[in-house]
Amino acid sequence: MLRKRVVERRATVLRASWVLVALAFAALGGQGCTKRPANADRTPLPVKPTATATARWTNRGLSPDQRAQLLVDAMTLDEKLTLVTGYFGAQKAWNAYQFPEARRQSAGLVRGVPRLDFPPQWQTDAGSGVATQGEAPSELERTLLPSGILTAATWNPALAERAGAMIGSEARASGFNVMLAGGVNLLRDPGNGRNFEYGGEDPLLAGTMVGALVRGIQSNHIVSTVKHYALNDQETARDTVNVKIDEAAARMSDLLAFQLAIEQGDPGSVMCSYNLVNGVYACQNDWLLTTVLKGDWAFRGYVMTDWGAQHDTVKNANAGLDQETGVSAKGGYQWLDKLAAAIQAGRVPRARLDDMARRISRTLIEKGAIDDPVQPASIDFTAHAAVTQASAEEGIVLLKNADVLPLAPSLKRVAVIGGHADVGVVTGGGSAQVYAPGGNAVRGLGLDHWPGPEVYARSSPLAALRSELPHTDITWSDGSDLALAAKAAAAAEVAIVFVTQWTAESLDFPLTLPNQQDKLVEAVAHTNRRTLVVLETGGPVLLPWLERVAGALEAWYPGSQGGTAIARILSGAVNPSGHLPCSFPQALAQLPRPAGAGVGAPEKQPASVSYDEGAAVGYRWYDQRKLEPQLPFGYGLSYTRFASDELAARVVAGELEVSFRVVNTGTRAGKQVAQIYVSPVAGGWEAPKRLGAFAKVDVAPGATAERTLRVDARLLAVYDTARHAWHIAPGDYTITLAASARETLQSVKIRLPERWLRAGAGAPRL
Ligand code: BGC
Repeated sequence: MLRKRVVERRATVLRASWVLVALAFAALGGQGCTKRPANADRTPLPVKPTATATARWTNRGLSPDQRAQLLVDAMTLDEKLTLVTGYFGAQKAWNAYQFPEARRQSAGLVRGVPRLDFPPQWQTDAGSGVATQGEAPSELERTLLPSGILTAATWNPALAERAGAMIGSEARASGFNVMLAGGVNLLRDPGNGRNFEYGGEDPLLAGTMVGALVRGIQSNHIVSTVKHYALNDQETARDTVNVKIDEAAARMSDLLAFQLAIEQGDPGSVMCSYNLVNGVYACQNDWLLTTVLKGDWAFRGYVMTDWGAQHDTVKNANAGLDQETGVSAKGGYQWLDKLAAAIQAGRVPRARLDDMARRISRTLIEKGAIDDPVQPASIDFTAHAAVTQASAEEGIVLLKNADVLPLAPSLKRVAVIGGHADVGVVTGGGSAQVYAPGGNAVRGLGLDHWPGPEVYARSSPLAALRSELPHTDITWSDGSDLALAAKAAAAAEVAIVFVTQWTAESLDFPLTLPNQQDKLVEAVAHTNRRTLVVLETGGPVLLPWLERVAGALEAWYPGSQGGTAIARILSGAVNPSGHLPCSFPQALAQLPRPAGAGVGAPEKQPASVSYDEGAAVGYRWYDQRKLEPQLPFGYGLSYTRFASDELAARVVAGELEVSFRVVNTGTRAGKQVAQIYVSPVAGGWEAPKRLGAFAKVDVAPGATAERTLRVDARLLAVYDTARHAWHIAPGDYTITLAASARETLQSVKIRLPERWLRAGAGAPRL
């Protein structure tokens, strides 16, 4: 009751204030922007709120559909066009569209319709928290979640949802009602500079984890996206690359990740990507937007472009795009005016514009962004630090442990070396850049222009380790001098080398660590055989020294409490439970595209990449090619031991159910990631097996936990393009309980009957 009253009061206050601002702009003429092209033949904007129309659509007793329809019915052509056009929100010097209601660090702004009391859409990036756009006049400091790939490495959807709820609440409190989060592009190329934002190589894991994050974000009555739809799996030539893939393979890989994330997260919006798919730009790809997304999957939200990904008004609109974003004076492209002209010329049906406006307004109503408007508020950074730390502690992966971890409290001397571990942990760059509390801990590194600089979150692993091991002398060397580092290591019982790899949007990266850090590891390992390596990387890298070190930890980009989380795992205060959401190759030659696609080609030139591996992404590729990765998908060590047994599979109400037990046979509490792989005995898939289900199981020492999981039928099927449906072939299937894609614990067989499934909830019945 109290919450309701607060919400209602918030609503009234906010509505009154932004209407006043908007009316002031209207009185100034031209909606308050510094530049606005002429709008010939268009209905002039009434300046006074229309009480009746507003009262009708804001009636909470009506359904979102009814309210959206009333709103659209009451709108002029200009007002509808306002809703479908988003401007660059950041105060960039080159952006002539500087609207007073824009939030200064934001990614974008869609103006409101004051006459009808419809609020602006204030947009912020991204999946690890409230970002600050490059070139913004000042930095917003917000809680930084670990990178998306670390969140996927937790294999814990409940934790991802809690993390999403936290960053969504910060978006709300910062005045944003649209969060451009939920990156779910598959990790096809380990060098993709945005792998850190995504959920790894498997459609089930990525779709589930990103869906959970989106659910959490939207629990704050704001809209979240999933992005970048679709097949935007590399940054090299991202604006011009034509991705070629056959339909069935796309539906069983990248599109399945989106489909699952959308089903589980119900995002208000889908962001279409920069690249082309089979010859057509993603944002004007009728097959992607209308046939698959809005048709087969019955998506009821709206499609927005990635920033500036629009190329052709008529093609975009008719293919199913609902909102152009990132308009700036720089690009000079104004969908608003071109669309008005296209509608007038009959090249885009008026009904299509109505549909766009209806989808956008219905989504904002349905998600609660209208009835519970955002309002700047204070943030409980202490409580949020606990959330980001919990994520980091579950997603850091123990890769190797030759009896060196956890560090004994009795150690006399430990040498900490490199990676700026004295001050912080590295973060990922680009539009997703979040400045953690305290700002950038290491200034002057990396590019001096976007997507740089390299930003470090102020959470020192060295300081945290000193507080974890108060009786140990912990020395520090920055690693720039190999001889000094080796000397410090020789004088210690254990040496810990921190290595970092900064990655960022718009760039792809080599898999070799930069700045000769491999040499640093070798030099240290040469003098101290109890050398540990802590990796802070965007995704998989080559680990040429793995044989020669005693232990290794993959900490990804661990977020604003990253240093603490790393130290607590090293000390044993936390038992590691992260598992890899991606395979680590032994060598580039093992990859489907060892050289990366388009690398070295002149910018803005057409490029193309053929995904000949089809749906055999990641571990499926290694299995199909019989290659041994350096570290397999699903892999991760613990300080305790688990045993598993009593695996059983059965068909219940037509669905495959699998049950099993996990026993903690060690002496510490721990969390095991139980993985169920499915495999047709007769073959016929893109690869021998697929991840069919998973669970993170928390087990006390000596205790046993039982689980029953359902395998999504699509993971047992092959997509049949001729019948426009998923097909499960009748026959025997092997069901495997595993600790990684390469560590089988137990297997059983089950016979499945033939089954056909619709392409999605919106596809025609079979
Ligand atoms: C990125 C998107 C981001 C948008 C707005 C683009 O460059 O690709 O992920 O949401 O900018 O900042």
